[in-house]
Parts: sequence; C-alpha cells; structure tokens
Amino acid sequence: MTIMKTLGQFIIEKQADFPYAKGELSRLLRDIGIAAKVVNREVNKAGLADILGESGHVNIQGEGQKKLDVYADEQFMRALSSGGECCVFASEEQDEAVYLNSTVSKDAKYIVCIDPLDGSSNIDVNVSVGTIFSIYRRKSTEGEATLSDILQKGIHQVAAGYIIYGSSTMLVYTTGKGVNGFTLDPSIGEFCLSHPNIIIPEKGNIYSINEGNYVKFPQGIKDYIKYCQIEDVATRRPYVSRYIGSMVADIHRNLLKGGIFLYPTTSSHPQGKLRLLYECNPIAFIVEQAGGKATTGYERILDILPRELHQRCSAIMGSREMVEKVEDFLRP
Ligand code: AHG
Ligand code: MN
Ligand code: MN
Repeated sequence: MTIMKTLGQFIIEKQADFPYAKGELSRLLRDIGIAAKVVNREVNKAGLADILGESGHVNIQGEGQKKLDVYADEQFMRALSSGGECCVFASEEQDEAVYLNSTVSKDAKYIVCIDPLDGSSNIDVNVSVGTIFSIYRRKSTEGEATLSDILQKGIHQVAAGYIIYGSSTMLVYTTGKGVNGFTLDPSIGEFCLSHPNIIIPEKGNIYSINEGNYVKFPQGIKDYIKYCQIEDVATRRPYVSRYIGSMVADIHRNLLKGGIFLYPTTSSHPQGKLRLLYECNPIAFIVEQAGGKATTGYERILDILPRELHQRCSAIMGSREMVEKVEDFLRP
C-alpha cells in the first residue's frame, strides 16, 4: 500500500528548514491551501453556480473583472485575514494593498501578493485557470506595515506557489528549497504529494507565446520565433508551439516537459503585460528553484526593485538553455 503524504504533513515536516519562527509560515501556507479548495469547488461547478461571466467592474489594470476573479479574491483575503499570519494582502484585483489591522493580524510577519484567478479569459470556456501567490517577510519591525514592506525584490520571497485548476487540481510551491507539487484528491479533500522535487529539463522543445502579437514584438523575439520554426534535427526543431493563455497552465506544462514561456514587451505594452508582484516574481522563484531561468530578456526578474504595486514586467522563463538562447537574440 502506498502511503500518501498530505500537504499539511509535508509542510510540518519541512518547517525545520525555515530560517524564522516555524509555525507561522506553515499556518499561512495551510490557509492558502484551504482557500484553494474553496475556489476549486466553485471553479468546478462554475457553469451551475451563476458564477461565469463579467462582474460588471473594471480592475486597476483596466481589465474587466469576472465574477470568479472577485470570488477568488474574497476567498483568499478572508482565509488570510482570519488566519492571523498575514499583515498585508496585495491583490491584482484590488487598487490598493489591504493592511490587515485586526488584533490577530496587526503584528503578523508576512505579506502576501496574489493573482487570485489567473487566466480569466479562459473561465467561461472550461479551460484551465490558476492562482499565483508570493510571500514576503515584513521588513519593518514596528507600527503598521508600509508600502516599502511590499515593494521588495523577488529574491526576498520566502515562499511562492501556484494552484492550477485543471483536469486535476494541483498546488505547486517552493520555500527556496526546491519545488514540490500536490494533487487534490477530491475523495478525501486533501492535497497529496504527487510531484516531489520538480526539476525542469535543461532544454525542451515547446515554446509558448501569443504569436498574434508578432508584429508588436522586438526584433530579437521575432528572430527567436523564426529560429523555433526552422528544421534542425540536432536541436529537435521545429519546436512545438503550445499556448493556453493562462500563465499558470503554460508554465506548469513547460516545467514538467521542458520548454519556454514568453510574454515580452510589445509596442502596445512597452513594459510587458504580466504583473511583477503577482505573476512574474512568484513564477520566476519557482522556475529558478526547479533549475530553470527567468529573465526579462535583459535581466533576472528576481533582481528588479519594484516601484509600484501593479508594475508590469516582460517575462521569458523556462528551460535554462532556451532562455539563454532568447537572451542571445536580444543582445544588440
Ligand atoms: P489574468 O487573467 O490574471 O489577468 O492573467 C492573464 C495573463 C496570463 O495568465 C496569460 O499568460 C496572459 O495574460 C495572456 O495574455 P494574452 O491574452 O495577451 O496572450
Ligand atoms: Mn494572471
Ligand atoms: Mn488574475
């Protein structure tokens, strides 16, 4: 009989590795796991629960919010504000960070940045969506946490992860000691360790990019796309093109199979489209921890000092050799 290890058991087992007080980060990760199960339940019955479609609001990024975006945001905020380990909740779906001042949260040590529902455009058509989270330790030691507690470089993340609501639901996370994946067993309602120590292949043959933006890409990216399409047996080209449009799903596939995900700058999004705090930093941390590489094309994502909450960023991430090839193409 195989013995299943649950997420809860795994977190407790690994907490000896944390450099800080042991229980708090464990409880925070547990709270995220609980909210993920609640969101998963709604995603699974979305067509039945009148939860598809637009909420009627537009978020700070000028994007129409879906009902499920709002629902997921509420669930994660609720779980983290009642858990007592998180002092600031910064979400892609909210204009400002929420400073949690209740008696349980005001002295909490951790800051959570979150993309509660990634891949919103796929919700209504039953294609995989996700959640991305990033956890920092608060720097200031007294009073209320401040914006500079949130605007830390990605290298200071103490944990990051994603949940993919796909053909099965998985939670993948890192605390800086490798990457582990857990699959939700719906019969017992627990995330169980299914993908221990995920390592991304050094090189792959999948490239994931929205090629509809081709004319808007920098020349180096256009040249790289052509490189991907040229026949060359030694390098397994032409590569396979796979693009879902949910970053979590595209990254998850490439992490397991080997490949590269690109959302570079475009003429209409000169800073890139994806968000540094909620999408690029957490995924970059995971990709690096799995042995891959994550850059803007010019610099390591985790080294960027954020200037604002909803800052955007170019993202080129995945198998190390493939990312380095793109960097070669972008070099003047
Ligand atoms: P979100 O749904 O959180 O706004 O994120 C969507 C992101 C990301 O998941 C995906 O990779 C990308 O936007 C897709 O963008 P395009 O439709 O421009 O390709
Ligand atoms: Mn997103
Ligand atoms: Mn989102």
